[in-house]
Amino acid sequence: MDFKIGKGGEVTIIPVFKDSEKLPEFDELYQFLKEKEILTGKVGEVYADIGYKGDKVVLIGLGEEEKLTVDSIRKAYYQAGKELMKFKVESIQVEVPEFKNICYIDEIQGMIEGLLQSEYSFEKYLSQKKIKPSVREVYLNIIEGKKAEAIDKAIEEVKNIIDGVFLARDLVNEPAMTMTPKILAEKAKEELEGLGVDVKVYGQEEIEELGMEAFLAVSKGSAQEPQLIVMEYKGNEEAEEKLALVGKGLTFDSGGYCIKPGDSMNTMFTDMAGAAAVIGAMKAIAKSKLDKNVVAVVAACENLISGTAYKPGDIIGSMSGKTIEILNTDAEGRLTLADALWYAVKNLKANKVIDVATLTGACVVALGNINTGAITNNEDFMEEVKKASQIAGEPVWELPNNEEYKELNKGDFADLKNTGGRGAGTITAGLFLGEFVDSTPWVHLDIAGTSYSSKARGYLPKGATGVPVKTLYYLAKNFKNY
Ligand code: BES
Ligand code: MN
Ligand code: ZN
Repeated sequence: MDFKIGKGGEVTIIPVFKDSEKLPEFDELYQFLKEKEILTGKVGEVYADIGYKGDKVVLIGLGEEEKLTVDSIRKAYYQAGKELMKFKVESIQVEVPEFKNICYIDEIQGMIEGLLQSEYSFEKYLSQKKIKPSVREVYLNIIEGKKAEAIDKAIEEVKNIIDGVFLARDLVNEPAMTMTPKILAEKAKEELEGLGVDVKVYGQEEIEELGMEAFLAVSKGSAQEPQLIVMEYKGNEEAEEKLALVGKGLTFDSGGYCIKPGDSMNTMFTDMAGAAAVIGAMKAIAKSKLDKNVVAVVAACENLISGTAYKPGDIIGSMSGKTIEILNTDAEGRLTLADALWYAVKNLKANKVIDVATLTGACVVALGNINTGAITNNEDFMEEVKKASQIAGEPVWELPNNEEYKELNKGDFADLKNTGGRGAGTITAGLFLGEFVDSTPWVHLDIAGTSYSSKARGYLPKGATGVPVKTLYYLAKNFKNY
């Protein structure tokens, strides 16, 4: 999809509010649709008059103007994109009037994002493709006097973000047989090196030398070599601040000897969605040339069963020196992340760290697929994350972090144990990770429910959603020291 500022295109997209009385150029059509209640202006409603002799116009509902959000704009233009595809429209004009409560740039970004989102599909394994993007040219009919330069920049930014989101989705949607730790590492290199991101990949021996005993314990049962993927983007040589993104990278989670039932295991090829999100975010960050320093770390491996696998009752070490009792081999993500977080904080000297992980089924029970669960050791940093998530339209819900919950992770025969019992599973899992960042400001995001969905919702497709790539991007963009 190519975006141009100006007039043109075979079909025009016009926004309509629930409270709009008139529609200047197409009022006759509009009054008719209103009267028949065919188009009432609700968010996501679309009326396309683009058949053989139509007016070549698509009217789209945006709800009440007072309640308009960027996310409803994204949803509406996503619907418009889907409709245009049905009619195989190749070039469009998007009317961009001024809206009451939304700044002009945000409005344009929402429109573009929605249109771009409508083109995503993961169909490489289908013999018959279902989604065939048609729109090639988009003319933005902006108000006179608006700065084209700022708008061009805003368009580029959205394209870069969506590139990152689509990359994350593609990585997650790929089955475990074609997304092993080695392939994931290769993908990271392939996607990021050309953008000026330094990508280093460490294998079994180097991971042993680093002393990542917790990470290695999880990987022991697999024939695939574990990979520690370290990505470094330096957008500001002068600044000392460094943000670390750490992603859970289980390319498959069988549960190990505490094996999962089949129904829970069949989506466990997506247990590297955290890794995919940080790789996608790095792509968006580097493409947009943000003037920030950002590192990303992924400890990638498989959690399988074999004669060499780790077992319940094992007491293992970790890079930090803390020892851990294994009560459940299915609580493996926190073990790999423990070493990845420690590495980010101690070896890479990040001064803020956020981890993203499909960590607990309990989070899916608590929040479903709407909110990502969050926990922190630093409320100021959490505020930054919440702001970023709001801009992104990727809701986050903070969970409590009382000392009493931390007690539940104390081991009997080792410093820690890898499950905190039946209650508050998302919180104890999160706080377990907090044991491996020292006093570095840290936020944990549990994306078990939000990174993958069994059905499409709004502009999110069925399957991998790419959440929370956008949040990570905006967090990095607005990242500052305090
Ligand atoms: N990868 C799973 C969590 C998960 C569940 C992600 C459903 C996406 C959808 C994680 O490794 C896991 O198995 N967690 C256990 C922890 C328990 C053993 C303490 C869980 O949630 O059951
Ligand atoms: Mn597990
Ligand atoms: Zn897992």
